[in-house]
Amino acid sequence: MTRPSSPLEGSAAERVAALTPDNPYRSSGRKPRLLIVGAGMMGREHLRVSQLLGWADVQGIVDPDGGSLEWACADWRLLTNAPLTIYRDLNEACGDEAVDAIVIATPNHTHRDVLLAAAASHKPVLLEKPMATTLADAMDIVNLARDYPAVIQLGMQYRFKAQYVEALQAVAAQRALGQVKTVAMSEYRPPFLDKVDQWNKFNRNSGGTLVEKCCHYFDLINVVAQSRPRRVYASGGRAVNFLDFEWQGEQSDIDDHAMVIIDYDNGVRASFTLNMFCQELYEELVVVGEYGRLVASEQASFQPDTPSKAELLVEVPEHPAYRGVPVGYPDWIEASGHYGATFFEHIAFNLQLAGQPVDAATPEQALWSLIVASAAQHSMRIGREVDVGAFCEENGIAAFFDESINS
Ligand SMILES: NC(=O)c1ccc[n+]([C@@H]2O[C@H](COP(=O)([O-])OP(=O)(O)OC[C@H]3O[C@@H](n4cnc5c(N)ncnc54)[C@H](O)[C@@H]3O)[C@@H](O)[C@H]2O)c1
Repeated sequence: MTRPSSPLEGSAAERVAALTPDNPYRSSGRKPRLLIVGAGMMGREHLRVSQLLGWADVQGIVDPDGGSLEWACADWRLLTNAPLTIYRDLNEACGDEAVDAIVIATPNHTHRDVLLAAAASHKPVLLEKPMATTLADAMDIVNLARDYPAVIQLGMQYRFKAQYVEALQAVAAQRALGQVKTVAMSEYRPPFLDKVDQWNKFNRNSGGTLVEKCCHYFDLINVVAQSRPRRVYASGGRAVNFLDFEWQGEQSDIDDHAMVIIDYDNGVRASFTLNMFCQELYEELVVVGEYGRLVASEQASFQPDTPSKAELLVEVPEHPAYRGVPVGYPDWIEASGHYGATFFEHIAFNLQLAGQPVDAATPEQALWSLIVASAAQHSMRIGREVDVGAFCEENGIAAFFDESINS
């Protein structure tokens, strides 16, 4: 995918043009038709973003929950007069010839089975993060993807947040910092939101807090480190959130804070801090290399009418962002969901549908983010560092760990 140009170059109009490469379907006149599986919060975001971008049409949605279907249909009517098929059966929906590509936005513990059902169609898939709740399920997905006749793109769309696009460009393409030595990432935010049947309040459904939410950050750290994680140590647990929360007689068991340290094969050292009992959202990526420090940050809020603020700072002599520059997308894109990240995720998916290469996460990269997250959760449980190679072996994915040394 064409990366947005630096926020430091060109007029605003030129930058927006660079943000939205050419629609690959403009000349063919035939837009791909999407099926959205799971019409909850994220399914509705995919409906909204696909309409806003306009490169693909939505054929229909499928969801067993009447309330989700109703809400999604109400949202759809506000967006467009176009018809929307409501499917009751997943196999029927995926197999419908009118559907060209499938977006899976169901709860984490359903991803593997829903993907297997979707894969019978041999159609391209955009699968929400985290790819699965266990490493065994994730490995099944990687194996399936290797022989699959179409693309399977993973929903690690934080890669497309404005500040991280700029940061990754500065680190990788411009090599502004020289060789990277340390990476420190953090997220401060309010507690997990309500979900249908409160699936995200239970580790067995979500895969655990570091898997569920923080796979995004481990993906970014892995991309910056450009190496294989070797050792992980983490400390964390449940301090404030959902301590007394019960749903259908079951007590919530999810963690709400953690500190993680990761050592990579190439000597890069990384850390990640999570705190989920804050009022507002703040996330930060700090990368330090031979020539200086880069900080990519975002201040945001769940409060209505509170705009987000993202910034890039590159403390390298003569770098134009030495004192920091604001970064971001136009308001209409930022407002569409996840500060524009989902909008660019859809651009990437559409480009992949047209056979063009993009920087979206592959199943292998998604598995690496899951390996780090799962190793960190394991470390929290046993109170010791985890050797990632041994951990992969214990989880039946030693071959995947070993083969990565040559890839
Ligand atoms: N990329 C991101 O930043 C991001 C943000 C939020 C959520 N997510 C992910 O998106 C997925 C959905 O999360 P959400 O917040 O929309 O949850 P949600 O609870 O709001 O919606 C999930 C929907 O899936 C439906 N569903 C359950 N099983 C299904 C099945 N077998 N077939 C079809 N529909 C099914 C549920 O009825 C519900 O309507 C999760 O994997 C979550 O981790 C990603």
